[in-house]
Amino acid sequence: MTREHEMIRHLLEERRGILLAHNYQPPEIQEAADLCGDSLELSRKAAATDAKVIVFCGVHFMAETASILSPDKTVLLPRADAGCLMADMITAEALQEKIRSLPPMPVVTYVNSTADVKALSTICCTSANAVQVVESLDADTVLMTPDRNLAQYAAGRTQKKIHFWDGFCPTHDVLKPEDVEEAKKAHPDAVFMAHPECRPEVLALADEIRSTSGMLRFARESHHKAFIVGTETGLLYPLRKENPGKAFYPASEKMVCNNMKKITLADVIRSLEKMEREIKVPEAVRKPALKAVQRMLDLSG
Ligand code: 13P
Ligand code: SF4
Repeated sequence: MTREHEMIRHLLEERRGILLAHNYQPPEIQEAADLCGDSLELSRKAAATDAKVIVFCGVHFMAETASILSPDKTVLLPRADAGCLMADMITAEALQEKIRSLPPMPVVTYVNSTADVKALSTICCTSANAVQVVESLDADTVLMTPDRNLAQYAAGRTQKKIHFWDGFCPTHDVLKPEDVEEAKKAHPDAVFMAHPECRPEVLALADEIRSTSGMLRFARESHHKAFIVGTETGLLYPLRKENPGKAFYPASEKMVCNNMKKITLADVIRSLEKMEREIKVPEAVRKPALKAVQRMLDLSG
C-alpha cells in the first residue's frame, strides 16, 4: 500500500465513505477501491451501501446514477471533467422530439446517459442485461438510446422491433473487423471477447459478448489460456491480475477512454479532504430517473 492509498483509507474511514471504481479505471485507483465492477454491479452497490459518502471513480453518469439511487448520501466524482462521449450524444430535448415523432412505445435507455435522459425513459439497461430488459417489456416495438451498437446487439436477440438512437461509444466503435482479424492472426489460439458497445460487424467475429465484469467472469471460469480483449484497455489490468497463468491481448491499442483515465489518487484525496466535486441530481429529475433505474434493478434481481 502506498502512502496515498493509506491516506485514502484513513479519509474514507473518517468520512464513513466507500470508494467505487469502474473496471476501466487506472490500476492504482482500482487498488484503492472497496469495489470494482461493471455499471450494473456498481449501481447495485451504490443502492445498497450504508456509507455516508460515495466516492465514484468512473465518469459523470455513473456518479449521477449513484446520486439517483442514494439521495441522502454525498456522492463525489473526484474530477468534474470526467464525462462520457456517448452520454453526451443525446439530450433530453432531442429525445423528447424523437418520442413525439414515433408512435407510443417504451424507451429503453442505457445507463451510459445523463439523468435528464433517464428521466424521460421507461426503463434503463446496462450492457449486462439489455436483452433481458427489452424482453421484459409488454410491447412489440421499443426505442433504445443512446447506443446504436448495443441496440443492434439486442435487436439480433429478440423478436421485438427496435428503433435506435444513432449514438455510440468512440472507444468501442473504433474497433474494426480488420483489427480483430489481425489480432486473431497474431494469437490464433486466443478466444475473442467483445463488448456489446462494439460494431455489429465486430460482434459477428466474437466468441463471447459480455459486459466488463462478464468478461472477468468468463476469463476466470474458462479453460482457455489466451484471450483477445475487445473493450477499453483498462480491463487488461484486472484480467491479468486475476489470471496469472493466462494471456490477455488488446484487440486494439486504440481502445482507450481518456475520460476513464482522468482521476488520480491525488484527486481522490483532495475530493475527500475538501468534500468537493459533489454530484447531486435535482429532485424533479431524480424521481422519474429513479423509476427507470429501479425498474431495471428490480428486474435483474
Ligand atoms: P460495463 O462495465 O457495464 O460493461 O460498461 C462499459 C462502459 O463503457 C462503461 O463506461
Ligand atoms: Fe463513455 Fe465509452 Fe468511455 Fe464508457 S468507454 S465512459 S461508454 S466513452
